[in-house]
Amino acid sequence: MELRLAEVFASIRAVHADTEEPLCAYVYDLQALYQHVIRLVSTLPQGCELFYAIKANSDLPLLQTLEPLIDGFEVSSGGELDWVREHFADVPVIFSGPGKLDQEINRAIEQNVDCLHIESLNELWRLAEIIKQTGKVAKILLRVNLAVDDLAKTSLMMGGKPTPFGFHVQQLKDCLEWLRAHPEIRLRGFHFHLLSHQLDARAHLQLLAAYQLQVREWCDEYALDIDHINVGGGIGINYRQPEQQFDWATFSAGLAALVNNGNLLGIPMRFELGRYITAACGYYVMQVIDIKQSYDKNFLIGRGGTHHFRTPYAQGHSHPLHLLPINAWPYAFPRPEISDAKVSIVGQLCTPKDLLAYDVPIDTVRCGDLMIFPYAGAYAWNISHHEFLRHPHPTQWYLPVE
Ligand SMILES: Cc1ncc(COP(=O)(O)O)c(C=O)c1O
Repeated sequence: MELRLAEVFASIRAVHADTEEPLCAYVYDLQALYQHVIRLVSTLPQGCELFYAIKANSDLPLLQTLEPLIDGFEVSSGGELDWVREHFADVPVIFSGPGKLDQEINRAIEQNVDCLHIESLNELWRLAEIIKQTGKVAKILLRVNLAVDDLAKTSLMMGGKPTPFGFHVQQLKDCLEWLRAHPEIRLRGFHFHLLSHQLDARAHLQLLAAYQLQVREWCDEYALDIDHINVGGGIGINYRQPEQQFDWATFSAGLAALVNNGNLLGIPMRFELGRYITAACGYYVMQVIDIKQSYDKNFLIGRGGTHHFRTPYAQGHSHPLHLLPINAWPYAFPRPEISDAKVSIVGQLCTPKDLLAYDVPIDTVRCGDLMIFPYAGAYAWNISHHEFLRHPHPTQWYLPVE
């Protein structure tokens, strides 16, 4: 996704000029999000559908920007389902996630979700009890924790090894037999989400090819008539080397070949991407409050911290950063600054874990300058522990779709 840094920085400067206190903010570039998704959708081959996994960021203006462009939303809780239905009466919704409550399954049926992704036999049996009372037919995918040969690992694996997610392949035969005796539950296909943080387009194509092959085998072996496979999310953002992002052009070209190779001819492939859709439209902004040296390390203390933006610490990376110099300095004493140094960027929390970036080489930074963290639009504000220390929440605004 193209970052529109000039537009974003101009907007941050404008808001900063009107702000008395040190700035701490989230900015979302909806125009960039719009352009990004138009590109994804227009380069996905026929036979592929794009859903957005709203757990990545369910902020309403983002969902409103995405809804007209994509095939629907993936939700993983009753809360997410209610949020989507409150604002989008008719959008197709798929409901997945482990540990579903009866009440959530009930809501999903009531709300006519397009598909339920079933994670276990217990969940399937509970669905059967619930659906019996409604006279409806439930449409499901079975999520399978598939073992894939030579699976290229990423830093976040949800399958291909023991995890709480999905069915073990050995349970499949019994499960399919049970389903045959329960026509009130219609098997529409299979769901896989083995990993997140995939940065390698070719490795991802290989994974999808393995899914296809496996599903073809199951269709033959069990005489199944399915209508799609869901290949999950998982395309990553390269936070460590932001100039080397996932190669979408290679991926979409390879995908076209995969879709047309005959393995699953005519059976659509559904994506439920989270991070790759919204990460790049968000920015977290902290103004430098203090500059300190401790032993042989330098620290920039910014307004805010991991209670707003937990992504770097959660993923164990040093987050990419832009510095925006600010000329105004409101005090009579000389402005603290540091030059030609490596710095760690921390926030206002009383814990050494409040670390957003480390060993960042800088030319010059002064107190009062702005630090801008890109790729803060997914698994950022919504996964952070906002009330820790009760600091105020960041200011938030959006650059509109033009
Ligand atoms: C089942 C499922 N689908 C999709 C996603 C979205 O993944 P990502 O944000 O890596 O695309 C997740 C993330 O945890 C998931 O668990």
